[in-house]
Amino acid sequence: MHLPVLLEETITNLITDPQGIYVDCTVGGGGHLRLLASRLEADATIIGLDKDAGVLNKTRESFSPSEIKFVQSDFRYLSQRLEEQGISAVDGIMIDLGVSSFQLDDAARGFSFHEDARLDMRMDQSQALDAWQIVNEFEEEEISRIIFKYGEEKFARRIARAIIMQRKDKSIDTTLELVDIIKTAVPARYQREKHPARRTFQALRIRVNGELEALEAVLPQAFQALKPGGRLCIITFHSLEDRIVKHFMADKARGCICPPELPVCVCHHQPELKITTRKPVEPSEEECQVNPRARSARLRVATRL
Ligand SMILES: C[S@@+](CC[C@H](N)C(=O)[O-])C[C@H]1O[C@@H](n2cnc3c(N)ncnc32)[C@H](O)[C@@H]1O
Repeated sequence: MHLPVLLEETITNLITDPQGIYVDCTVGGGGHLRLLASRLEADATIIGLDKDAGVLNKTRESFSPSEIKFVQSDFRYLSQRLEEQGISAVDGIMIDLGVSSFQLDDAARGFSFHEDARLDMRMDQSQALDAWQIVNEFEEEEISRIIFKYGEEKFARRIARAIIMQRKDKSIDTTLELVDIIKTAVPARYQREKHPARRTFQALRIRVNGELEALEAVLPQAFQALKPGGRLCIITFHSLEDRIVKHFMADKARGCICPPELPVCVCHHQPELKITTRKPVEPSEEECQVNPRARSARLRVATRL
């Protein structure tokens, strides 16, 4: 069961017109979508995207037909998907990044370092690249770079080396085989802090699914699609994602872009977004108690000017 994170905070910020047009770019288990639908009037339009066909179809069954237009797609194609629906401007767009508990709990998908499964981690099962290919076919330098960049893992080099050594004997096929290799590569004290495979698994998942590239691609499209007064609500789960969202919003919220040495403004550049939540909204202690996954969540909201 997937518990939606920062649910009330997101939907309250998202809705500006109860008869408007809204997009949930990450339907998942449909938790946010359900509250959104319940707060809108019957003539509102809701589009729900998810790149995971299995998850989307399962969630679709729990809604009454015609309530929501479900579309299986990577949100990096948002503009195209809206154009196909004949929609030129929307009132609100939400993105709740990362994996859903549906994906984590389905051991066969290979997202979890607690369950044994083939190294997969694809959200979109029709895509060719999976975690097995990265671990078994990429060069040592590239594996090390991925683990360092996307996992911010200080032992990335050691882990990449251990993977390459193991590969000489036999391919690394399952999640728990990879966990064992990581355990041999990192110091014992490190294993007492958090799960030693957590950062490497995060890194592989981000690389397999092109998560940061998709986020960078969707932000300008989401901004373009918003009506003046429309809202963009984004929930991130780690600093790499949050940084991208924060910089995008700050950039669009800037007025004058003249060099600081100019005494008066000559650019007359106008801000295009207003940052609605000056600081990111964080979950309450109560929410984190009930749903530990919420602990790292940050909600950022901006309004199109
Ligand atoms: C954290 S879950 C969303 C949970 C949902 N808000 C709920 O309340 O149940 C993230 C979902 O986004 C999907 N997803 C992640 N990246 C995506 C992308 N680039 N395009 C479309 N869907 C994506 C995942 O497949 C997953 O189902």
